[in-house]
Amino acid sequence: MLSKGETVELGEITCRVEEHVARGRVGDVYRVKEGEGNLYALKIARDRRGPTLMSLRDEESRTERLARAGLPFARIAARGRDYVLKEWVEGIRGDRWLGEWRKNGRPFPTPETLGLLNLFRRVMLNGLLARDLNPTNLIWSEGCWILVDSDNIRKKGFRRARLEILRAWAEEWADDSEEEKKFGKRLADIPAPEAGIEGKRREL
Ligand SMILES: Nc1ncnc2c1ncn2[C@@H]1O[C@H](COP(=O)(O)OP(=O)(O)O)[C@@H](O)[C@H]1O
Ligand SMILES: [Mg+2]
Repeated sequence: MLSKGETVELGEITCRVEEHVARGRVGDVYRVKEGEGNLYALKIARDRRGPTLMSLRDEESRTERLARAGLPFARIAARGRDYVLKEWVEGIRGDRWLGEWRKNGRPFPTPETLGLLNLFRRVMLNGLLARDLNPTNLIWSEGCWILVDSDNIRKKGFRRARLEILRAWAEEWADDSEEEKKFGKRLADIPAPEAGIEGKRREL
């Protein structure tokens, strides 16, 4: 574990640890600051096992996939064998937003709910199978949902991507309320891309 105030060298970037923010599946995440300037999220592997280090190593190619699909994500500033340093995303995390939204009676439409529909729509239209689309991996920041973490992104086509998102919504977001079931129905109703030759080929 790193302690508050500790200095860490990350490639060319030297930072000071401000706060331990989370213990995730892959590692501990700290908010760190470079001099008096940039804030970053530093994720350090929780162990040296193959799958953990591979998950960190693959963050780069996953963010490239997200970039190609035009999806907003936290950019990588530096990476080592057992850490990854990403730009800090300031905002409200999906799980905390969900709690507040429920308390407020689940209003729809709102910028956050439309933003979520739009994000999921874009993942589907790009045919991305992006596991880990759970509320703790999304941050509502400056009017936009930003992905801070995603596992195992692959290109699988619209229908598979839609199924995966419906599963993620049902298992990791929604409760039993009518409003949240309705939101799932909105996701299910997102139409497939125009079925031209290109569209058909993508569906195969
Ligand atoms: N770039 C970031 N900006 C702000 N907070 C972040 C960032 N990256 C991660 N976090 C915080 O740390 C938590 C765990 O990070 P995550 O990358 O999801 O780790 P894991 O792979 O272990 O799940 C997130 O839920 C979020 O609260
Ligand atoms: Mg995560």
